[in-house]
Amino acid sequence: MSKTLIYPGTFDPFTLGHLDLAERACRIADRVVIAVAEHSGKNTLFSLAERCQLVQESCKHLRVEVRPFSGLLINLAAEEQAAMILRGLRSGTDLDYERPMADLNRRMQPGLEVLFMLPAAELAAISSSLVREIHRLGGDTSALIPPVVQRALLDKR
Ligand code: PNS
Repeated sequence: MSKTLIYPGTFDPFTLGHLDLAERACRIADRVVIAVAEHSGKNTLFSLAERCQLVQESCKHLRVEVRPFSGLLINLAAEEQAAMILRGLRSGTDLDYERPMADLNRRMQPGLEVLFMLPAAELAAISSSLVREIHRLGGDTSALIPPVVQRALLDKR
């Protein structure tokens, strides 16, 4: 049976850490859907359409589908007939945040597996929020995000 994996996130913006995970996901799943959250309780710098487009362009070399989503992740998983959800873990703090969501998602949809993957060690410090902060304060983010995202970020100045 072919296995679909969903990699969900806000991706505001998509970073090299996210790209590393998307590449790893393509190595383990038959079909990878990167799901860009419309609302995740955060005010975003990039619109939903911009975030989807930047993910798509950053992953041009990969066999992934990019789509927006709103509502419960388990409903998206059912709609996409996904067997697995992928989340990245950069630290123990990430695990503290992820564990309750994974537990509740599994309780609501038994059979849905939640996978956690570590990004490459040199990418573990990168987060979208730090990218936005460095950019806002005039710093160079070019080593942290794909070139297409860097261009879009500079256009926001
Ligand atoms: O990149 P983020 O902001 O860490 O992604 C968080 C996201 C979008 C994956 C998470 O907020 C989510 O799954 N939202 C969908 C709503 C949902 O299902 N909430 C119940 C979780 S138990």
